[in-house]
Amino acid sequence: MNVREEFIKYFTKNGHKQIPSSPIVPENDPTVLFNTAGMQPLVPYLMGEEHPYGKRLCDYQKCVRLTDLDEIGDKTHHTFFEMLGNWSLGDYFKKESIGYSFEFLTKVLNIPVERLAITVFAGDEKIPRDEVSAGYWKEKGISEDRIAYLGKDDNFWIAGDSGPCGCDTEIFYFRSDDEIPAKFDPSDERWVEIWNNVFMEFYQDENGNISELKQKNVDTGMGLERIVAVLEGVDDNYKSSIWSDVINKLEVITGLSYEGNEKAMRIIVDHIRTSVFIAADPASIKPSNTDQGYILRRLIRRYIRQARKLGIDINSDFDEQIALLIISKYEKYYSELSCNKEVVLDVLSNEKKKFSRTLEKGLREFEKLVDLNAKVIDKNIAFKLYDTYGFPIELTIEEAKDRGMSVDVDGFYERFREHQEKSRTASKGKFKGGLSGNSEMETKYHTATHLLNAALKKVIGSDVHQLGSNITPERLRFDFPCDHKMTDEEKKMVEDLVNEWIKEDLPVERLEMSKDEALRSGAECTFIEKYPDVVTVYKIGDVSKELCGGPHVSHTSLLGHFKIKKEESSSAGVRRIKAILE
Ligand code: ALA
Repeated sequence: MNVREEFIKYFTKNGHKQIPSSPIVPENDPTVLFNTAGMQPLVPYLMGEEHPYGKRLCDYQKCVRLTDLDEIGDKTHHTFFEMLGNWSLGDYFKKESIGYSFEFLTKVLNIPVERLAITVFAGDEKIPRDEVSAGYWKEKGISEDRIAYLGKDDNFWIAGDSGPCGCDTEIFYFRSDDEIPAKFDPSDERWVEIWNNVFMEFYQDENGNISELKQKNVDTGMGLERIVAVLEGVDDNYKSSIWSDVINKLEVITGLSYEGNEKAMRIIVDHIRTSVFIAADPASIKPSNTDQGYILRRLIRRYIRQARKLGIDINSDFDEQIALLIISKYEKYYSELSCNKEVVLDVLSNEKKKFSRTLEKGLREFEKLVDLNAKVIDKNIAFKLYDTYGFPIELTIEEAKDRGMSVDVDGFYERFREHQEKSRTASKGKFKGGLSGNSEMETKYHTATHLLNAALKKVIGSDVHQLGSNITPERLRFDFPCDHKMTDEEKKMVEDLVNEWIKEDLPVERLEMSKDEALRSGAECTFIEKYPDVVTVYKIGDVSKELCGGPHVSHTSLLGHFKIKKEESSSAGVRRIKAILE
């Protein structure tokens, strides 16, 4: 069954007009890099502007979400995905929306009602419990036991921090051969969310104030990847018909089997598909060091690294073969893929050439520096390759392995520590005689450093972490991996985020726990092996959690106003920020 086509057929039959997918790069919205949901291009119409196609719409929308970048490689995450959606712009509301979803799932997709369960909004001080939606679900034959009432985190939807929003009702499917429990437990992972119906009747401004919209809308979203996997009875999205032929092709190219190489293979096909769609977008994005171009560059370089890991000759046309297969699968739905086929292939091959030159240079230095008769690559050489030539430690390890050598990885990290220690000692020396180690100002800068790290992760990407830190009573200095000069916009976003957290007066808590517990809790730590068994973790509200010796202030409003004074290169692929508290 072609779910995409059935979806459009069903909703057009029910009075909806199909609208074309908008480009992934939003046309008139500089606040986001990519469309992340079907509703994003429709914001003006949800706010009341008249849509040329009328009040009932449906589509499949190309989306790119980068928040999950680190999770790509598991069974269910993708950087690019398609969202099936239907909308009522001030036309029908909860009753019809629930009716359509129920009918589509049970009559068109033939999902047995026993496999479905529902969540609805439990209510809070401002918005009442959504008994209305629950009532309609019961009318359809969903039992009370299969309806869970959840709070704002689960059953209230908004894209980002402000915009049209409202309570939602989510539909879950029981994906397991086990006996289906009579009572629905939303935390039981055998129940997977398949569709979200948002009842958009509010507008939330930047300060969190909620007002009523001119009209009551419906906004729904169903991830195509997820529903296809569910219907085909696979729990790994990459085993569904959306991916199976692409994975097969990669198996043929590599001569390897998917089993045992899942992670690398998923990253390669996911990132090639996203790169193809970004490069084909009408916005003509090219790999660069800023904005969407930076993301494209990062995706291409990441799949090349994974391909190398699988032993693929990266100068072969492996990526072109995969890209062509993807284009042939999707061009029927997205004509820009065939129109821009040559552009896409050029983008991929040019970036690959550039990256392979960087790799080659690194490898040449590797050959020069490494004594091939030694069994272990010395820590200083590994550090120099990283620090001076931007050659990642992972590559040094791989190259060493190919030559039957190993790397003194612990030593490498030791060098890192020494590097950090040196700068710390230097700063202490500079201020000895009065302003020793932990003055009040330095304590504040310690806390500000954690907030800066957290803000950079949000703005630049989850790969950001501390590579070096140096604090004086006058300023903080922070080094982190990033391969482009930060734009003014990015700097401003980072400053704004830190200042927002300062204003929120978040508590700073000092926790003691075992190293294992700290790791399990997701606390950030760059050199975990160097810490004792019991560690201290500093937690700032819900924004930051880092292994650290402290000291820190007790709550963030003590910091004052945060300002970035300078952003510059520190070494290859490493940026340095100097910032002050005023
Ligand atoms: N906009 C809603 C979502 O993305 C439907 O889940």
